[in-house]
Amino acid sequence: MRRSINTALVCGLFLLPHLPAAAQSTPNPAMTAPDQVAWQLFIQANTRAGGSNSTFETWASDSDTFKPTPQFPTGATPPALRRPILPALAREGVQQSGGLLPALPPGIAQGATEETRHNKATFDFIVQNNLYKVSGLKAAFGKNLQFPIDSMEVKANWMAVSDIPAFTNNRVTLAQVPQLYHVNSSGGVQYAMVAMHVISKLVPNWTWATFEHKLNPARCDILGCKDAFGAQTAFVASNPVAGQGYPDCTKTQALTAMLANADIDPVYSNYCLKGSQTDFVDNVGLDIRVGNSVTEDTFVATASCMTCHGRAVFDKTGKPTSVAGFLSFTANGPIGPIGPLLPAWYWTFNSQPPIFEGKPGLSQLTTSADFVWSVPLCAIDDTQNPIPASNCAGK
Ligand code: HEC
Repeated sequence: MRRSINTALVCGLFLLPHLPAAAQSTPNPAMTAPDQVAWQLFIQANTRAGGSNSTFETWASDSDTFKPTPQFPTGATPPALRRPILPALAREGVQQSGGLLPALPPGIAQGATEETRHNKATFDFIVQNNLYKVSGLKAAFGKNLQFPIDSMEVKANWMAVSDIPAFTNNRVTLAQVPQLYHVNSSGGVQYAMVAMHVISKLVPNWTWATFEHKLNPARCDILGCKDAFGAQTAFVASNPVAGQGYPDCTKTQALTAMLANADIDPVYSNYCLKGSQTDFVDNVGLDIRVGNSVTEDTFVATASCMTCHGRAVFDKTGKPTSVAGFLSFTANGPIGPIGPLLPAWYWTFNSQPPIFEGKPGLSQLTTSADFVWSVPLCAIDDTQNPIPASNCAGK
């Protein structure tokens, strides 16, 4: 498991200190071994950072970032919790489309909350380019925004520890929760982490991966669970009935070794990779789907990390084009965008496809925030006085 600095550099893995030796000679691991890189990044985000804190808890939350004077924290901070934005919008949208307000899905009914964290590279890019405020987005309209390659972001979902036994259909007792979950407290309440998205800029369109606690009752529902690196069973099919739970994602020797060599709390071995995504469509034209049973609750069947994040754009007024830019609503439920990015999301044009750079009649409608949704969604509107709270403020 020893590595030499030279090998790591040759392979472009300077961000990935814990990869086993064999993996280091893999060319382009983010594309050719995405599940392995997903675990590496998960370990990087969750490496111990003093006390019971993990590295991602030292990164800037949306509340640290999207405010008049953004500030990177000087140490670990408690979870910056808020209501989950996406599932809430999804429910409201379905109701407005004439559907019955869907019953609260179990995770949310039991108080799942979320937070987003940006590492220093990401935070600096947002601040230096004024992407935390609408005036800055107006000024950035038409630019080609590219986050630096050492960018990492996570979105974590938390649930009150006291709610975990019911959430897991009593597969765990209250006393067992701190032994099996990463736990932290916020506002005097103990929360357990149930889900985590991890993205990195190791490739131009980011690496995409999502993790779930092994006891999440809907973990592999609808899409199944896929982990070609870390799970002894690389593909677990969905149960026919939702919310019944799945067997543990028993770890391979390679992942067990990777975790053992890392400076990481052993509770993290109770999390499973649900799936990773490297492209919009596969090599036979089919749309690729990946979604988390907690974070993308209610629209897992039409979840594509990359397609929906490709819709993270703003127009010349510095605003996201519409909230429905990422979800459309039917009376039967919300639908997320999947498949390739469409030119109409970014351009107006007066001709039939193909649409390509420089085609006559093409005019820019929106600017891409390089897949980072919080930029258009959370930017504070400093063109108003007083400045209203960010859409992504804590609860
Ligand atoms: C239907 C749209 C949609 C899908 C599908 C989706 N996301 Fe997001 N994501 C969002 C929006 C909107 C935000 C910002 C608001 C929030 O945090 O909820 C976000 C936030 C994030 C963040 C925080 C950084 C940022 O962009 O602001 C990460 C990391 C993230 N998502 C990863 C993922 C991963 C990994 C997947 C796939 C497993 C995924 N997302 C699927 C819409 C989506």
